[in-house]
Amino acid sequence: MSANNIKGKVVVITGASSGLGEASARELAKLGAKVVVGARRLDRLQALVKEIGEPAQAAVKVDVTKREDVEALIKTAVDLHGRVDVLLNNAGYMPLSLVEKGRVDEWDAMIDINIKGVLYGVNAVLPVFKKQMSGQIINVSSVAGHVVSPGSTVYSGTKFAVKALSEGLRQELKPYNVRVLNVSPGATESELFLAIKDKDVLDSFASMKLDSVPNTAFTDAIIFAIGQPENVDVNEIIFRPTAQTL
Ligand SMILES: NC(=O)c1ccc[n+]([C@@H]2O[C@H](COP(=O)([O-])OP(=O)(O)OC[C@H]3O[C@@H](n4cnc5c(N)ncnc54)[C@H](OP(=O)(O)O)[C@@H]3O)[C@@H](O)[C@H]2O)c1
Repeated sequence: MSANNIKGKVVVITGASSGLGEASARELAKLGAKVVVGARRLDRLQALVKEIGEPAQAAVKVDVTKREDVEALIKTAVDLHGRVDVLLNNAGYMPLSLVEKGRVDEWDAMIDINIKGVLYGVNAVLPVFKKQMSGQIINVSSVAGHVVSPGSTVYSGTKFAVKALSEGLRQELKPYNVRVLNVSPGATESELFLAIKDKDVLDSFASMKLDSVPNTAFTDAIIFAIGQPENVDVNEIIFRPTAQTL
């Protein structure tokens, strides 16, 4: 692991108020990265930047479904540090349900957060990366972006989309020396599962006894990719709990 390639890097993280994004901010800061974090729960972000020693401005209230919020997040990073090295497009929402339940508002929110939010991040950071002729986009897909199961239909649709976006971006952004990673976690400790309200899905999860892995499984994966030399582009990482069948 080459921590030297992380020290001093400016890393913008969406969805850093809990779970994988919050853990990433902590671990990257320990390795010397300068992190700028966004999410809707500003109080949590403020506590996080205080804890890791970033300036208060590095915590930005962001709703990734609002383009102007995402643009303001990237602008904050540039104003503070003059550049962006990595965008960790991590914010996500997973209210799993069976399609027949018709939880259309949840579908809308997943499409807006998981797909459009990722695209808004890409759109906001690209002018910076093009000017720098360097940068790295890390999109967070899921094992559910590779396989589908009952209840994950719409969520999987959004995460398959993230995988497709990552692959297209990987190819399109070569001229600008921009690297693209699509990272696909399996069940990992976070608050993600709290969004599930469909009783049938909750019951099926309870019977599966799915043991999540600690969020270090995720942070180790992205640290590996960010820590590579600039001419090494790690494009896909999938990990699961060893016991996870799907
Ligand atoms: N944990 C897993 O098992 C797992 C597996 C596969 C993929 N993933 C993916 O990993 C990513 C991180 O999720 P997590 O597991 O860490 O879950 P989490 O603890 O629920 O974190 C989700 C983060 O996304 C943010 N977020 C949600 N809606 C947002 C919005 N509209 N605008 C801005 N931020 C928003 C939340 O912040 P606010 O509520 O404060 O806005 C929170 O910080 C997601 O993309 C998820 O799909 C997780």
